[in-house]
Amino acid sequence: MTKAISGFSKLSKTEKITWLTTNFFNNSEAATQTLTSYWNTDAKLQQLHDEFIENTITNYYLPLGVAPNFTINDTIYTIPMAIEESSVVAAASKAGKFWQERGGFKTTVLGTTKVGQVHFTYDGDKEDLQQYFDKITPKLYEDVEEITVNMKKRGGGIKNIALRDKTAAVDDYYQLHCTFETLDAMGANFINSCLEQFATTFKEGFEADARFRESGNTLDIIMSILSNYVPDCLVRAEVSCPIDQLTEKNIDGETFAKKFVQAVTIAEEEPYRAVTHNKGIMNGIDAVILATGNDFRAVEAGVHAYAARDGQYRSLTHASIKDGIFTFWMEIPLALGTVGGLTKLHPLVKWSMELLGNPSAKELMQIVAVAGLAQNFAALKSLTTTGIQQGHMKMHLMNILNQMNATPDEKQQTVNHFKSNTVTHSAVVTFIDGLRS
Ligand code: MEV
Repeated sequence: MTKAISGFSKLSKTEKITWLTTNFFNNSEAATQTLTSYWNTDAKLQQLHDEFIENTITNYYLPLGVAPNFTINDTIYTIPMAIEESSVVAAASKAGKFWQERGGFKTTVLGTTKVGQVHFTYDGDKEDLQQYFDKITPKLYEDVEEITVNMKKRGGGIKNIALRDKTAAVDDYYQLHCTFETLDAMGANFINSCLEQFATTFKEGFEADARFRESGNTLDIIMSILSNYVPDCLVRAEVSCPIDQLTEKNIDGETFAKKFVQAVTIAEEEPYRAVTHNKGIMNGIDAVILATGNDFRAVEAGVHAYAARDGQYRSLTHASIKDGIFTFWMEIPLALGTVGGLTKLHPLVKWSMELLGNPSAKELMQIVAVAGLAQNFAALKSLTTTGIQQGHMKMHLMNILNQMNATPDEKQQTVNHFKSNTVTHSAVVTFIDGLRS
């Protein structure tokens, strides 16, 4: 059982790597070398990354690219994007420029409310519980004063605490459903700290209440946690222009606009297509979220729940043609932070924030939503005209060349050749084999 180990986290980084190399890589020097070659030569910077998580053995790089020419509410942004997929940044840049020439993106923050819940069970009379909740509510606020004081000074804090009866779904199940305003913080720590204090106060007050001591009823706290479903932390992004401004070399504006709207309608109605459609949106969103040190898993979970809010998974974007005007828009829930977390800690996140002019959380919501809308526009534009593979394979060409260890000269000749030929994996292999023979 060499592959089981106790106390792994206590080993030094070098000891961890030795254990891994011995047990999983036949003591291969190359396996160790792969890990150490990604260590940063700046020991302090490396230590910072080592300490982000437990059991760090090396760094995992993703390319950080930028997409310039994004006009959002008349301000021009260059958007940082961290992503591995070849064509995403190129597509975003193209869409940014396209809409810059047609009035840019318009965005509005529709809400910033976040949610957290204390989940508990109670086996007594509902009216008694409601009366107890009404009585204890001021103390719930009072007992978190220390946690909320600074947030309140800045204009945020707890917006509401409601008792919700969920017994129709699960026996004896109730919630304290709480709403928060966390301003520029994503707010997970703030919300969770408040919720845990609510739970303690709520339980202690219950146990001290003579009515429940007499009745013998019990109240058990199951858990206290924020929700990543934030339908009221919502941002809208939109582009629009007269349809004749959509005319390009190979297609007239009206034909393009109609096909585009049909493609969106299909994604609104057909879940198989909607998932891929929304995945394309998340290509843009996740890339900016990663670059700005935000939690892409939280956003992903919330966004997909929102896409299914009426019981069917649907497109997040919508499009219309009215009186000769093409409009394309999206409303999307985004709980983001521009303070706390990694935002000031990770040098590349700090750099990315500075590139964006150190935005507030509300501004970042708008930038991220635009990146998603732009990405979806670029994907649908390709899908409904040239097909996706032309642009995608062009960007993927360098990956194929690197897989084949192409020399700079081979790369140059191949890129030239495929300017006027369709890129496929086998066509590239054949071309390189031809060069080499
Ligand atoms: C690929 O990463 C994303 C697309 O599939 C999105 C879409 O189909 O809309 C191109």
